[in-house]
Amino acid sequence: MDDSLKGFLTTLLKREDFKAHPGDARLIDIPEVLGAKAIVVMGIGEAKKIDREVLRKFAAAALKQANKVKAKKISYEDLSFLDPSLNSLARGQVIAEGVTLAQYTFDDYRSEKQAPKKTVSHVEVITDDLTGIKNMQLGFSRGQIFAESTNFARSLINIPAVDMTPKRLADEAKKIAKQPGISIKVLEKKEIERLGMGLYLAVAKGSEQPPYFVHLTYKPSGKAKKKIVIIGKAVTFDSGGLSLKPPNSMETMKDDMSGSAAMLGVMKALSALKPSVEVHGICAATENMPSGAAERPGDIARAMNGKTVEILNTDAEGRLTLADAICYAQKLKPDLMINAATLTGACVVALGDLCSGIMGNNQDLIQDLIHCGKEAGEKLWQMPLIEEYKEELKSPIADLKNVGGRWGGTINGGLFLQEFVDSSIPWAHVDIAGPSWTEKELAYCPRGGTGHLTRTLLHFLLKQ
Ligand code: BES
Ligand code: ZN
Ligand code: ZN
Repeated sequence: MDDSLKGFLTTLLKREDFKAHPGDARLIDIPEVLGAKAIVVMGIGEAKKIDREVLRKFAAAALKQANKVKAKKISYEDLSFLDPSLNSLARGQVIAEGVTLAQYTFDDYRSEKQAPKKTVSHVEVITDDLTGIKNMQLGFSRGQIFAESTNFARSLINIPAVDMTPKRLADEAKKIAKQPGISIKVLEKKEIERLGMGLYLAVAKGSEQPPYFVHLTYKPSGKAKKKIVIIGKAVTFDSGGLSLKPPNSMETMKDDMSGSAAMLGVMKALSALKPSVEVHGICAATENMPSGAAERPGDIARAMNGKTVEILNTDAEGRLTLADAICYAQKLKPDLMINAATLTGACVVALGDLCSGIMGNNQDLIQDLIHCGKEAGEKLWQMPLIEEYKEELKSPIADLKNVGGRWGGTINGGLFLQEFVDSSIPWAHVDIAGPSWTEKELAYCPRGGTGHLTRTLLHFLLKQ
């Protein structure tokens, strides 16, 4: 192109000191000699630093530029000369993810005029890697499914709590269960009581919205290699309960069901992805509200496994709902269990809003999930479950309290959950309080729910 334009592009970019950093973009209008009206020159950074995430962000930036110039289609030249660990499947997948994730906007509550225009409807990849073309196609369609289920999770989070009630969450799960290979059981309050989920019910008591316990099951067509449980925190709004949060902290608390959004995103993708494992997606949906019927600080409630808990802070509600969900899940005799939960503000303090904390009782499982996070472009960092801190979870009058000491809040949350986990079952708990939500627009996610962990979990399930 530059040659046809007699070096015009180089001259212009040099004059403007264009460095081609990742994300740099420059729109240049040209005389219509090349069959195009404009050229967008984009940076991708140093060749040796190009990895999955750089490519994903690059594809996202290209999509945004293309929408800006009202293009309908993107032809993407495959960079097959890159690092060989980026095989054709991975390259196809990250490009599809980048564009599909970047195309997401949440406009359900806008009047039409205001909705930003999205003109791009087609993306193609041009490659000379002919042996890899089948795999690239597979990667491309995987990437689309991964991104669409992430976008689905984002919308579940972004829909305000007035609409995204526990019932609505259960209804969304029921829609997923219409797909082949997926079945569902939804427990209403009476059955939850019958099962003795007293901790979950203690949280639900303060809300006018009844609780719904959701259990989705995906079964592969052949014999399942493993039985895996994914439990998502599903507090559709966390006011703190009687231990009421200050107004600012409550503003984004419709996102307190992000763990279940990731779980539902995963379940939605399974009948298309067909992993060879059985997957159970579980969530104990409820609001945490401060009515006259609400649990009080100092109340004692009993979990499904008989353990009693002194509830000293009603804002530490997530662990109460998850404890009963874990008890329920263990009855399924799973090979491994993963929790995803916006559990502690302390995790955001420790790791910021781009990184989850992961902890558990099995180092292999934790390593595998961290590795899958790298492939997905989602950051997970391990926190230690320090035995000694358990002392602080002891109650003088019940088996446990729902809060630990002043420090190490994320670890205390993990330790509390571990009290309900059968140590023979590999278990990991991911505290997604930080990255479940973004205040600023990211490379491929607008402000709001991010759908974090959906793609990490999908990678994990496909690897089994
Ligand atoms: N949902 C919150 C955790 C949270 C905080 C998520 C900020 C995202 C951003 C959770 O239920 C909560 O309130 N946890 C308490 C625990 C404390 C009372 C032990 C917290 O983090 O303050
Ligand atoms: Zn809370
Ligand atoms: Zn919460």
